[in-house]
Amino acid sequence: MRSLDDFACRKLEELDRACLRRTLAESLREDGPWVTREGRRLLSFSCNDYLNLSHHPALKAAATAAIGQYGVGAAASRLVTGNHPLFRELETRLARLKGTEAACVFGSGYLANSGIIPALAGAQDLVLIDELAHACLWAGTKLSPAQTLVFRHNDVAHARSLLALNRARFRHALLVTDGVFSMDGDLAPLCDLGELCTAYDTWLMTDDAHGLGVIGGGRGSAFAAGPGAHVPLQMGTLSKAIGGYGGYLCASRPVIDLMKTRARTLIYSTALPPAMAAAAIAALTIIETEPELTAKPLAKARAFTTRLGLPEAQSPIVPLVLGEPESALQASNKLAAEGFLVTPIRPPTVPVGTARLRFAFTAMHPDEEIARLADAVRLLIAGTPSRLETPQEKLKGTPKCPPSS
Ligand SMILES: Cc1ncc(COP(=O)(O)O)c(C=O)c1O
Repeated sequence: MRSLDDFACRKLEELDRACLRRTLAESLREDGPWVTREGRRLLSFSCNDYLNLSHHPALKAAATAAIGQYGVGAAASRLVTGNHPLFRELETRLARLKGTEAACVFGSGYLANSGIIPALAGAQDLVLIDELAHACLWAGTKLSPAQTLVFRHNDVAHARSLLALNRARFRHALLVTDGVFSMDGDLAPLCDLGELCTAYDTWLMTDDAHGLGVIGGGRGSAFAAGPGAHVPLQMGTLSKAIGGYGGYLCASRPVIDLMKTRARTLIYSTALPPAMAAAAIAALTIIETEPELTAKPLAKARAFTTRLGLPEAQSPIVPLVLGEPESALQASNKLAAEGFLVTPIRPPTVPVGTARLRFAFTAMHPDEEIARLADAVRLLIAGTPSRLETPQEKLKGTPKCPPSS
C-alpha cells in the first residue's frame, strides 16, 4: 500500500529531523555489566540488571531445570492450562518479601499495569497519577474508563488539593505512582501519600520496578519509605533486579483473587514461561539472603554523585539532564569513545526539553571505573550551565502530558 509506506516514511523523516528516531543496536551482554556493540566492549551504565543476576549460575540452573521439566512455553493463559506449579511458589515468595497476603504474576510489568488499573477503576471512579509516572502506568490509566487527574511530580500538596476538590464526586479513587522514578531515580514520598490516601479513602498503588532488590533492604520503595508507609497495591517487574522477565502485583487476598478473575492482561495473554518463574524464585532467595549484595547498586550510585558533586543518589538511577536530544546524543557518543555505554534518553520517554543521560549502577561496576566515568562526565559538562539542575527543576510548571509514542 503506497499510502501506508508514505505515512511511515514521513513519520521517520520527522523523527530524524528532531533527532528523535530510535534504532535497535545489537548488544551482546556478557557476565556482569560489560556489553559488546559493533565489535567494541563497553562498560554499560544502561542495564537495569542491578544485581547482575541475569547471568547468575543459580538462575541459569533453575531456568534450565524448569525447561527440562515443564518445557519452554506455558502454552496457554493461566486460566486455561498455563498455570504451571512454579507460579504458586513464586507468588508466595513475592508476597512474603513485600509483606502482603498474596501476589499475582503477570506476563510482564507492562502487562501488569495495563491489567491492574482497569480492573480496579471503572466509569464512576477517579485515577490520580504522577505526571512522571512510567508509560505503562499511563497505559493502564488510559485503558480505564475512570476520570484521570494528573498531579505535579511528587507534589503531595497538589494531590491533596485535587482530592479535596474532586474525591466526593467519585465512587472509588486510585492514586498511582512509581516508587522509584525510572528516568529520574528519585523516590515517591510514600509515607505522605499513604496518609493522604487514607484520609481520602483512596487506594495507593506503586510501581516498584526499580525498587525491588535495591532499596529498603531489597524489599523495595514501600520499605525504604519507613514503617509509616502503607502501600496496599505494590506492583513490580521481574525484569530488572530479578534478572529475568515477568511482572507482579502484591496485595491483599481479595484483591489478588479479583485480579485473577478480572485483569484482562492476565486472562487473555499466555502465561509467563516456566523458566522465568524458576529463575525469579532463585533470584528472590539471593535477595532475601545477601543484604550486602542488595546494598551495592545504591552505594555505587552514591560514589558517583559524591565524586561529581551532584545531589546524593536516592536509588541506583542517576539522571544528568542535558536539554535537547542532540546534546544527549553527543554526550553519549563522547562517553562511548571513553569505553562507557550510556544510552541517551529522549522525548517522549522524558518530557520535551529534558533529554538526558541516565546512569544505572549495578553491584558489579568496578569502583575505579565509576571514578573514571565521573571524571569523564565532569569534562563533558564543564561549562554547561544546566549541569546541576535536577530534572524537577527543569520541569517546573504545569503537569506534563502523558508519554505518547
Ligand atoms: C517503572 C517501570 N515500570 C514498568 C516497566 C515495565 O516492566 P516490564 O519490562 O517487565 O514490562 C518498566 C520498564 O521496563 C519500568 O521502568
